[in-house]
Parts: sequence; C-alpha cells; structure tokens
Amino acid sequence: MPAVVMQRLAHVLTASQFDRESTDALLDRASQLHGIRDDVLAGKIMATLFYEPSTRTRLSFEAAMLRRGGGVISAEDASQTSSAVKGETLEDTVRVVGTYADLIVLRHPTVGASQQAAAVSPVPLINAGDGSGEHPTQALLDIYTIRRELGGLDGRHIVLCGDLRFSRTVHSLVTLASLFDIRFSLVSTPELTMPPEMVASLRDTGAKVTETADINDVIRDCDVLYPTRVQTERTDVKYDANFVVNKALMQRLPDSAIVMSPLPRREEIDTEIDDDPRVAYFRQAANGVPVRMALLESLLT
Ligand code: CP
Repeated sequence: MPAVVMQRLAHVLTASQFDRESTDALLDRASQLHGIRDDVLAGKIMATLFYEPSTRTRLSFEAAMLRRGGGVISAEDASQTSSAVKGETLEDTVRVVGTYADLIVLRHPTVGASQQAAAVSPVPLINAGDGSGEHPTQALLDIYTIRRELGGLDGRHIVLCGDLRFSRTVHSLVTLASLFDIRFSLVSTPELTMPPEMVASLRDTGAKVTETADINDVIRDCDVLYPTRVQTERTDVKYDANFVVNKALMQRLPDSAIVMSPLPRREEIDTEIDDDPRVAYFRQAANGVPVRMALLESLLT
C-alpha cells in the first residue's frame, strides 16, 4: 500500500480528512484489488457496529475484510440486539468492542456519533454513516466510480438532485469532489436544499455551484447525474416527481453521461432505465469492495 495514504489517519470520520494526493493513492490501490483474494489482513478482526439498517456498506466492508484474509464480528442490528437496549452508552460499547477487534466500522443515527465514538476508541474507527452527517467511504467509492467510468474528474459537471438536506452521501461526495475541478448543480425543492453553510463551504473551495429547482436547467451538459432518495428516516417531505429519473429524462441526458446512486433507490429512479448503458449504480455498488479493501489495508498494515 502506498504509505502516503493513511499515515495521518487513525480514524476515518469525514471526507474532509482526505486531500487529493491521499485520495488518488487510495483509489489507485483499489484499482489493483478487483477480484483479488489474499491474506494481507490474516489475524486481524473487524467489528461492524450498525445501529441503522444497511445492505451495501456493512456487507461490502465485511466482504472486503474476508477477501483480504481477515475476520469479522458484527452487531448488524445494534439498536435492537446490543446492550444499547439495556442502556449502555455508545462510548462504553466502543471501549469494549475495541478490545475485541482491530478496527470498528460504525453506523449510527446521530450526527457526530462517530467523532464521539472515535474519541474513546482504542482502535481505528470508520464512520459508515452518522445520521444526516457524513458517509466518507461512500464518497471514496463514488469518486472511484467516476474515475473508472469517465476516466477522470477534472472538468466534470456533477448534477445532484433530490434530498440534498439529509443525504449524508451527498454531503461527503461534494466535500471529496471539491478536491477536483468540478462544476456542481444542486437540484432540489426548497424543503430539501443543501444546508447553506455547506454550499458556502463548497463555493469557498473555488467550485462553481448552481442551485436550482428545475433539472432541465442543468441536465443538458451533465456528466454525472446523482439522484438521492428522500431520507424518510429523517423527514416526511415527498420526492419531487419532476426529478424522477425515467426514460423521458434519460432522453435529455447526454450519451456520454452516467447515472449514479448510493442506493437503495425508491421512487427517484425508475427501474425502466436499468438496462441503459449509462446506468452505473450497480457497478458503483460493486466498487465498494475494492475501495474498502484498500482502505482496510491502509489502516491495518
Ligand atoms: N449506500 C449505502 O450506504 O447503502 P446501505 O445503506 O445499504 O449501506
């Protein structure tokens, strides 16, 4: 593993911990790990502590660990089956689990929970989603997917639409993507706009940012269309039907563009487009494994 990647990182809590050099080095390494099974992490144990549901994040972390020869212990429904039910604090849980495992992957409904947990964790801790806060490893695999699909990020136009207020994947993605020369279009209804301080931070990086409620304003020269479902765990606002990615909308999308999604999808992506070659979201989900293989290697070796 290129030593530059994680020397400074004990924990992975936010996309803002990464610079362009460390991102490129990590993703270069991920590109070497497709289909690889080895024993680089033999003897190491990863604990997945998930207080919120997950398919991709937990299972791709676990697959990544197993493919590198490591072991996994899991509390996959920790809010129901761990001693949190008996009133144990997150801090006490992490202090103890950190004596069983060499690394903890944590998903929690509370913004800032991963920082709180990392403060007492005796082992590296990875934020696998903290409420509507961040999901930095999703951003890593998103950037990796854009690189892989389009050959690079500089000069690209990324259109994010849907729930930009509560979607942690979007929050981490714009932070990481702003390391590159990217134009962002943020498409949402007024109830689901990106938090103003986040938009201001994005503009402070020098990125060009357009905010609009009309997807037709920005789709014609889009390189990456990234719809996100409404986070129904955190709001009862409805998804705007004008943003549904269906065959009619795909006709207005350039042939060279791709459609990405962190998944799961709900109504924002019509299954009728799944066979379109521009649909990248299942390839994107698969990319979670090599990216997390590289990340685990960098934190544990
Ligand atoms: N992208 C993502 O976080 O998916 P899961 O909720 O299934 O982990």
